[in-house]
Amino acid sequence: MDPVRRIAIIGSGPSGFYAAGHLLKALGDGCTVDMFDRLPTPHGLVRSGVAPDHPKIKSVTRVYDKTAGHASFRFFGNVTFGTDVNHDELVARYHAIIYAVGTPDGRLLGIPGEELRGSWAATDFVGWYNGHPDHAAHEFDLSVKRAVVIGNGNVAIDVARMLMLDAGELAATDTADYALQALRASQVEEVVVVGRRGPAEAAFTNPELLELGELAAADVLIEPQGCADAAAMPEETTARRNVEILRDLAHRPPSGKPRRIVLRFLASPTEIHGDDEGRVRAVTLEQNELVADAAGTVRAQPSGVSERLEAGLVLQAIGYRGAQLPGVPFDPHSGVIPTTDSRVIGEDGPRLGEYAVGWVKRGPSGVIGTNKKCAQETVDALLEDLAAGRLLDPEPQTDEQLEAFVAERQEHHVHYEGWQAIDRHERERGEADGRPRVKLTLVEHMLDVARGR
Ligand SMILES: Cc1cc2nc3c(=O)[nH]c(=O)nc-3n(C[C@H](O)[C@H](O)[C@H](O)COP(=O)(O)OP(=O)(O)OC[C@H]3O[C@@H](n4cnc5c(N)ncnc54)[C@H](O)[C@@H]3O)c2cc1C
Ligand SMILES: NC(=O)c1ccc[n+]([C@@H]2O[C@H](COP(=O)([O-])OP(=O)(O)OC[C@H]3O[C@@H](n4cnc5c(N)ncnc54)[C@H](OP(=O)(O)O)[C@@H]3O)[C@@H](O)[C@H]2O)c1
Repeated sequence: MDPVRRIAIIGSGPSGFYAAGHLLKALGDGCTVDMFDRLPTPHGLVRSGVAPDHPKIKSVTRVYDKTAGHASFRFFGNVTFGTDVNHDELVARYHAIIYAVGTPDGRLLGIPGEELRGSWAATDFVGWYNGHPDHAAHEFDLSVKRAVVIGNGNVAIDVARMLMLDAGELAATDTADYALQALRASQVEEVVVVGRRGPAEAAFTNPELLELGELAAADVLIEPQGCADAAAMPEETTARRNVEILRDLAHRPPSGKPRRIVLRFLASPTEIHGDDEGRVRAVTLEQNELVADAAGTVRAQPSGVSERLEAGLVLQAIGYRGAQLPGVPFDPHSGVIPTTDSRVIGEDGPRLGEYAVGWVKRGPSGVIGTNKKCAQETVDALLEDLAAGRLLDPEPQTDEQLEAFVAERQEHHVHYEGWQAIDRHERERGEADGRPRVKLTLVEHMLDVARGR
């Protein structure tokens, strides 16, 4: 048997990098980690999800750079699992495979009118302003006066805030250049954020909610009667603090800023309406009442009362879902890879040497740090199987053979050094304007820079 355990990690977001870090710490030179990503750039949603006006959060990538500097680590960017390399090829070459591919797709409500121009999953908007190559070509019509954001999580807050930042707040960010231009010229004056349940049930976290009240150009408007009595809620919980923050915001008189974020609770969109040219013009909102089921879960129940709200842009921020990888089990209901104790479950039970980590294992929730603990659990399962002799038994491979295999499948693959060249290039482009970086948003340009052109 090959004395070195060769591990493939598919996906270079936080969960993939934490898994690599834990593996290299536990096994050192006794393993090699080959990390694949479909993009030439690593770091998943840290690059393409985290909001551009939150640069400090992105400094977490220094930890990933340290992992990437380990002699037993290699990065193969611009290599897609399922097309460039497939399941059976990796099973034949590696002792274990860890799927860390995240959950790339936006969920939609499935209501009439979603196909209209101006109706989007928030995922598209987030990918667009962050310069993700899949989303760089979208065109958002920001000549409209009102946008509606559906959902009460942090992604809803991110997209509402990005729509309301003024030119000064946008200036020092790494927002993709085309988006920066469009957002600077935006005529959107009001963003209505719609939650199906009440303030006490919102999924916002406290700092993100507080930040909404600190925008340079937008006031926050809330109906105070919608806010539950915080005193009756369990102490020191995120929900109670959210309600307190919302009450404070609700009682703050508008300061006359030119834009507004309106937080509407207890309402669900039931239809999106268009004009003769197929563009979004309005949304029907149905009011809800809260009911607690037998288990005490508070649910939204339609009241039968609805209203029409004029709007030209609708962004649904109701969560993400995974996409099926060819040859890998997938649960279409929950949108994740089915696992037990991080081991991938196939038709006949756990699959030998296959594991999942991060959002594609747990579902699309949790902050960057949540993936560190999640990755420890995945690596612990792998190490337990290694000790018990339960990994795959591939033909012995050298580093050179694996490199040649990848090169044959995708001649334009990008090593970490190639990414570092892209990183330097982007940072240099940003320097003159005091921006962290000016992102490359086309794969061809990334490949040119990675190759030193
Ligand atoms: C809009 C948004 C903003 C967020 N902001 C914050 C924040 O400010 N702070 C915070 O702590 N958390 C934030 N989060 C949460 C955080 O981003 C996630 O917890 C984390 O990124 C999940 O990590 P992951 O590795 O599971 O998935 P991802 O980060 O999605 O990484 C998955 C990787 O897999 C790659 N991949 C996918 N398919 C393939 C394939 N077939 N072949 C090869 N590679 C593939 C992708 O290109 C990607 O690089 C945010 C999330 C979102 C959606
Ligand atoms: N700054 C940050 O730290 C940051 C930024 C962005 C994202 N994140 C993290 O990334 C994760 C994902 O965030 P997210 O906002 O996508 O998801 P989320 O936190 O799960 O919020 C999803 C929201 O969508 C609502 N929703 C779901 N189905 C709905 C439906 N059918 N109709 C109406 N509303 C519906 C949910 O309401 P119900 O509760 O009623 O289901 C909830 O308010 C979270 O853990 C988040 O904290 C963090």
